[in-house]
Amino acid sequence: METSLKKPENISVCEHPLALHNLTIMRDKNTSAELFRNATRRLAEVLFFSSTDNLPTVKTQIETPIALTESQIIDPEAEIIIAPILRAGLLFGDVASTLLPDARVHHLGLYRDEVTLKPVTYYNNLPKNFKNPNKTYVYILDPMLATGGSAIASIQMLEKYDIPHENIRFICLLSAPEGIKTFHAAYPDIKVITAWIDERLNQNGYIVPGLGDAGDRTFNTIY
Ligand code: PRP
Ligand code: URA
Repeated sequence: METSLKKPENISVCEHPLALHNLTIMRDKNTSAELFRNATRRLAEVLFFSSTDNLPTVKTQIETPIALTESQIIDPEAEIIIAPILRAGLLFGDVASTLLPDARVHHLGLYRDEVTLKPVTYYNNLPKNFKNPNKTYVYILDPMLATGGSAIASIQMLEKYDIPHENIRFICLLSAPEGIKTFHAAYPDIKVITAWIDERLNQNGYIVPGLGDAGDRTFNTIY
């Protein structure tokens, strides 16, 4: 009961024209790797901007050239973690760390086994602990949410830190309904932010219509 109530508020679809325009460029099979990367950066920027609206702010006194004023800054006590999933999340992570230069970037190495479609973890760069889990804000970045296996595995890597689930967000450029359902069945409290939800997965676990293999298109490794 609680789970089904939480679902609508825990998925956010960014319908900004800039996001949709760049997603279309990424989808086109004739888009070169260079233009794919450019479009990824622009889409990632729009999406990351809207995904960080949960960051706490505090008031501070400053002096403008004209007058003293009270203004807001991101709470300096907030520990901001950007967690890109390798390898397709690398560009996304770069864009995010440009927007939030003081954030810490911890890479998570995961790939999806081609036959079983199950995630395989090969790298975990998370620290031993976080000083104040209640003030830690985590943004997991991956272009694609397909079966949901990699997204779930990334959250499992964070479980031991006791970070409140409302402080963790999974941000993806494109998603499939199957993956969102599986992810929210496991983690109903974690918000998923995506530019678009496509129709379905095909028999090989690829998103339809999708954009193909995000990592291969980003790094020009289609042979
Ligand atoms: C892709 C993508 C996600 C995963 C999504 O990674 O970047 O991490 O698949 O699929 P899932 O929801 O079914 O788990 P891939 O395994 O292709 O690795 P790569 O980024 O290294 O190419
Ligand atoms: N991973 C991708 O890169 N693309 C898909 O469609 C599914 C998983």
